[in-house]
Amino acid sequence: MILITGGAGFIGANFVLDWLAQNDEPVVNLDKLTYAGNPETLASLEGDGRHVFVQGDIGDSKLVDRLLAEHKPRAVVNFAAESHVDRSIHGPEDFVETNVLGTFRLLESVRGHWSALPADQKAAFRFLHVSTDEVYGSLSATDPAFTEENKYEPNSPYSASKAASDHLVRAWHHTYGLPVVTTNCSNNYGPFHFPEKLIPLMIVNALAGKALPVYGDGMQVRDWLYVKDHCSAIRRVLEGGRLGETYNVGGWNEKPNIEIVNTVCALLDELRPRADGKSYREQISYVTDRPGHDRRYAIDARKLERELGWKPAETFDTGIRKTVEWYLANGEWVANVQSGAYREWVEKQYDAELAAAGKAGA
Ligand code: NAD
Ligand code: TYD
Repeated sequence: MILITGGAGFIGANFVLDWLAQNDEPVVNLDKLTYAGNPETLASLEGDGRHVFVQGDIGDSKLVDRLLAEHKPRAVVNFAAESHVDRSIHGPEDFVETNVLGTFRLLESVRGHWSALPADQKAAFRFLHVSTDEVYGSLSATDPAFTEENKYEPNSPYSASKAASDHLVRAWHHTYGLPVVTTNCSNNYGPFHFPEKLIPLMIVNALAGKALPVYGDGMQVRDWLYVKDHCSAIRRVLEGGRLGETYNVGGWNEKPNIEIVNTVCALLDELRPRADGKSYREQISYVTDRPGHDRRYAIDARKLERELGWKPAETFDTGIRKTVEWYLANGEWVANVQSGAYREWVEKQYDAELAAAGKAGA
């Protein structure tokens, strides 16, 4: 049995689905179901006794203590977080609450559980903390990619809250001996990605005939990894990672944002051409830049390859095609996820800005 937190979100749900497709070890899935948590993503597991879903907060110590006592997991994988940089700029408090305080409370619950285990189970136990490359700050065009030796220099409320959580995890290892490993991954993309993040937002807006908002000059660089490759890296680190170590995870796919948007448009032009025969590129709209926008992220994932033999299975070309095809085939999931609280946010954040620029609906 393993305990997954945040397993109704984008990466956590992909992880749970892959895990149960590959082995029969059961999963307890603790997720608060914020706007980003979507039980529909896990619909294929309905009636599957290997998946126990519990709606709740990682910061609810009583609940977490009870789950640990009841299910006695051999490992905890912590995906739960507030994850969207733009939201963290507009409202940082939830980020501090979940990413910092929530992780602290989770660590304390796990420490209590782990301390009382018999010696053999104590030695085998793992707490894997899922984190981001954004904790390292921003690179110039010529800087080498981030290694695990880079200083932490987080710039956004999101990355600062993730950096704080990484430091807590590190301290719980050094001070209390909790058997932890941390992964710092680059930008993920793939199925079940919420359409507030760059790639799914571009696909969904393009199909809806809306503007494709590119921040600033569109030349910010991110390193992109197909979500299933992130999941395989986490499985590898969970089984073989050295205690107290951090492992960078990346796809060696550095791309400027505008190139990503152009690629998405080209795939849609091929797979679902616009009725008027024009390219979806016509919908691209440059908008005001994000405050404090990090210019470039790049990941050096050689430690993970050297120590644990991990390599991504997808190239960007294969991964992005699969992703666009998935969104074309799953319009109902997209429609459902765009309702309620999520929809209100998108309207406030993007539609108002585009309307002000006179470009709404492109
Ligand atoms: P997401 O926003 O899609 O999902 C987060 C999930 O956590 C949601 O299901 C939400 O309901 C749940 N959650 C939020 N607060 C909670 C709380 N207090 N208690 C319990 N559950 C809670 O995020 P994601 O993109 O799947 O990211 C998962 C993890 O991976 C995060 O820790 C994120 O920092 C990290 N990460 C993400 C990326 C990326 O590109 N998306 C890259 C590197 C690392
Ligand atoms: P995002 O998917 O929000 O991930 P992150 O900020 O964690 O890297 O954004 C990826 C890049 O795309 C980032 O440089 C911001 C940019 N971006 C846009 O240009 N337009 C958009 O509408 C969004 C959501 C992001």
